[in-house]
Amino acid sequence: MAGKLWSGRLPGQLDPGFEAFSCSLPADLHLFEHDLKASMAHVRALGRAQMISATDAQALEGALQDLLQAGVDAFPWTDQDEDLHTAIERVVVERVGEAGLRLHTGRSRNDQVATASHLYAHQAGQELAGEALEFAQAALTQAQAAGDQIIVGMTHLQPAQPVLLAHHLLAYAWMASRDAERFLTAAARSRHSSPLGAGALAGTGFDLDVGQCALEMGFAAPYANSIDAVSDRDYLAELTFACALATSHLSRLAEELILWSHPAFGRVRLADQFVTGSSMMPQKRNPDSAELVRAKSGSVIGDLVGVLSLLKGLPLAYMRDLQEDKPPLYHAVETTKNSLRIMTGALQTATFMPAAPAYGDLSLATELADHLVRAGMPFRQAHAIVGQLSATAEELGGNFSRLTRAEFSQASSLFGEHLEVVLDPKQAIARHHSVGGSAPQAVRAQIERLESVLQSLRQALVS
Ligand code: ARG
Repeated sequence: MAGKLWSGRLPGQLDPGFEAFSCSLPADLHLFEHDLKASMAHVRALGRAQMISATDAQALEGALQDLLQAGVDAFPWTDQDEDLHTAIERVVVERVGEAGLRLHTGRSRNDQVATASHLYAHQAGQELAGEALEFAQAALTQAQAAGDQIIVGMTHLQPAQPVLLAHHLLAYAWMASRDAERFLTAAARSRHSSPLGAGALAGTGFDLDVGQCALEMGFAAPYANSIDAVSDRDYLAELTFACALATSHLSRLAEELILWSHPAFGRVRLADQFVTGSSMMPQKRNPDSAELVRAKSGSVIGDLVGVLSLLKGLPLAYMRDLQEDKPPLYHAVETTKNSLRIMTGALQTATFMPAAPAYGDLSLATELADHLVRAGMPFRQAHAIVGQLSATAEELGGNFSRLTRAEFSQASSLFGEHLEVVLDPKQAIARHHSVGGSAPQAVRAQIERLESVLQSLRQALVS
C-alpha cells in the first residue's frame, strides 16, 4: 500500500520534519496486542454483518492472529508508518491483498485508538494492582517481624510519642492497599464501555453488532455516546492519577528510609543489593534505590499534570492532541511498576534497628498530662504543668527520670505515687488500645483486618 491512508485527498509528500514529528511509533507499540485483538473483534463483526465475505474475514483474522503470535518485537513497522494502526493495516494488505483493503470498513482510527488504549489501561491497572499488593505484603511481613518493638514516633520530625515499629510500617501497607484498590477500580472502569463502533465521531452507518463486539473484547457494553467514546480520556487520567498517588506514597517511605539510614537516626540498614558505594569515599553506603524512587515520583506527577493540561482545553470530538495522552500514561505505568518493585525488594531485605524510648523519655510527656487528667485535672492545666516539667528536665540535660519525686509533687499533688507505670514506654503503649492505636493487641487486630483486606483485593484481582 503506497503512501498515506489519506493520499486520495492529499497526494503530495509531507514535510519530512513534520512527518517525523507527527509519528506516534514506537510509543504505539504498547498498544500492539490490544489493537490486534480489537481488530479481530471488528473483523468478526464485519463478517457477521456480511460486510465482508467469510473468506475475507478468515484471511484477515488469520493475518492479525499471525502478527499477534509473532509478537511485537517481530512486527515490521517502518519510519514511514504514521502510527501503529496504519502500520498494521499496511502489513495486513501486504500479506492478504484485497481483503486487507476492507479491514477499515466502518471504523476510524479515532474509535480504534480509543479501544486499544482502554484495553491497555485495563491490563496495566491489573498489573499495577498486583505489584501494589506485593509491596503491601512486604510491609506487612516486616511489621509482623517487628513484633512488639517500640520506637519514638514523630510528628514534625520531632520526637512525639512511643509507638510500635509494626504500627508505623503498617501505615505504608494500608496506603498500598488503597493504591491496589484504586488500580483495580481504574482497570475496571477502563473496560466499562467500548468505543469501537463510534467511528470518527458519529457512529457507524453499517449494521455492526457493536454490543457483541464489546463483549468479545471484555467490555461491559458500547459507549452510550459516540462523541464521548472518541473523546473520553477519563480512564487514562484516572490511571495516571493512581500512579501519581502510589509513587507519592513510595516517595514518603523512600524519604523515611533515607533519613532512618543516617547514623543519627540509626533505625534501618538497607541491604547491600539496594545501596551503592562512592567512587571516592570508601566507607559509603548510599541509599540510591530510595533516592531514585523519591525522584521518579516527581516525574509521574508530571505525567498527570501533562495529561490533564492536554485535556482541559480540547473541543469535542477527536483532535490529534489526543495522540500525546499516551506517552505520559506509558511512562507513569512503567515508572510506578518499577518503583513498586524496587521498594518491595528494599523493604523485604531491610533490617530495622529501632532505638526504643527509655524510661522517663520526654516522648512520655502526654502520658504524664493524661495521668493528671485521670486524677481530675482539666487537660489544658495538665498540659501547662507538664510543659514546665519538660523544660526543667531538658535543662537538666536529660528526661523526666532526672526529676525527683518532690519536684513532681511540687508541680502537682495529683501526680501521686505510681509514676513508674506512667513513665514506662511499654505501659504507655499498652494504654493506647483504641481501634487503630499502638497497643500490641490493637496492632494485632489491625494486622488481621489488613490481612483480610489484602485477601479480598487478591480475589478481586483474579476474578
Ligand atoms: N496516532 C493517533 C493517536 O494516537 C491515532 C488516531 C489518529 N486519528 C486521526 N484522526 N488522525 O491518537
